Amino acid sequence: MSRYRQDVEAIREEMIAWRRYLHQNPELSFQEYRTSAWIMERLREFGIEDVRLVAGTGVVARLIGSEPGGCVALRADIDALPIQEENDVPYRSRNPGVMHACGHDGHTAMLLGAAKILAARRKPMRGEVRLIFQKAEEVFPGGARDMIEEGVLEGVDAIIGTHLWSPMAAGTVGVASGPVMAAPDRFRIEITGRGGHGGAPQDTVDPILVGSQVVGALQSVVSRRTDPLDQLVISVCEFHAGTAHNIIPNQATLVGTVRTFREDVRRRVPEQMESIVKGICAAFGATYTFEYERGYAPVVNDERVARLVREAAEEVVGPKRVETMAPVMGGEDFSAYLQVVPGCFFFTGAGNPAKGARYPHHHPKFAIDEDVLPIGVEIFLTALDKLSESFHRRDGTR
Ligand code: NI
Repeated sequence: MSRYRQDVEAIREEMIAWRRYLHQNPELSFQEYRTSAWIMERLREFGIEDVRLVAGTGVVARLIGSEPGGCVALRADIDALPIQEENDVPYRSRNPGVMHACGHDGHTAMLLGAAKILAARRKPMRGEVRLIFQKAEEVFPGGARDMIEEGVLEGVDAIIGTHLWSPMAAGTVGVASGPVMAAPDRFRIEITGRGGHGGAPQDTVDPILVGSQVVGALQSVVSRRTDPLDQLVISVCEFHAGTAHNIIPNQATLVGTVRTFREDVRRRVPEQMESIVKGICAAFGATYTFEYERGYAPVVNDERVARLVREAAEEVVGPKRVETMAPVMGGEDFSAYLQVVPGCFFFTGAGNPAKGARYPHHHPKFAIDEDVLPIGVEIFLTALDKLSESFHRRDGTR
């Protein structure tokens, strides 16, 4: 048990109420106007004066302690998704077609919880705690980049963030050092053949046949051109072509995603993909265009920060309930902060079938076990102490 258990328990119900308010009033990425205003009101209510709006709809707050020490940032994302909620709960979304279906409502409630406790305890606090309520995590290029450009990381020594995670049981926590979330890139291939009658294929160049060969052959980049010990996913997720059962169309469009962890793998994949598209199109007499857009960088945790977060998590939930998380192939723009300062992104288990929290993230029935909110906050606060202590020791008088 950590020294924060009582403080955290005391605000459990309040955090759940905040989370429900946010759940009821979700806003899409880059449009979090009411959400950010509401967050600023809460922070000022807690007595935090240094609060400002950043990059339109992000919020940053600074809490300066009375003792010297490092500056640690805590980050929550605040945006919702374009999904019609199917949960029948009293606090279901009031905004049609928009839903907190990824748990960012819970992230925001947890960071507010940490803010309230820190604001009350500020006197003996060491160093600075920077609270980053980040806009637009769900939509590339993401809100982190804009907020970093506006200086939210200036003077920050380390950063911590968490994701509520419904595939993990409530009460467990996942922490790992090194790569934890992938780089999600996007591609689009347009294949142009020559349309014609479905009964006279000899007079056509069939882009559906060509596209099918491309879909199959792209997997050879994964299975035959990449070290089996490196992670790589190539998924064609859209294949559009054709208008009728007896017409061979002119064009086929393939859209998909590439997931990697290593920069060298990520860098060579587009070229290898295009060489396959080019070769197959040439063989069949089709032409093509190939577009590749790099998304977020992979989330790579710092070893030292991850070790301290792990120690904190072990104090909070017990060592047996802290897992060394295997990397997930989803993406997160928390990576943008990690490219500037060392940090750790960990996972707070939030699945609990008994409470209806059994659906995957981004599902219209997504739910979390709200009783895990105190766990995330307690880990934040415990890890903060450990980090600012370690900076203090390392930097002497800072
Ligand atoms: Ni999310």
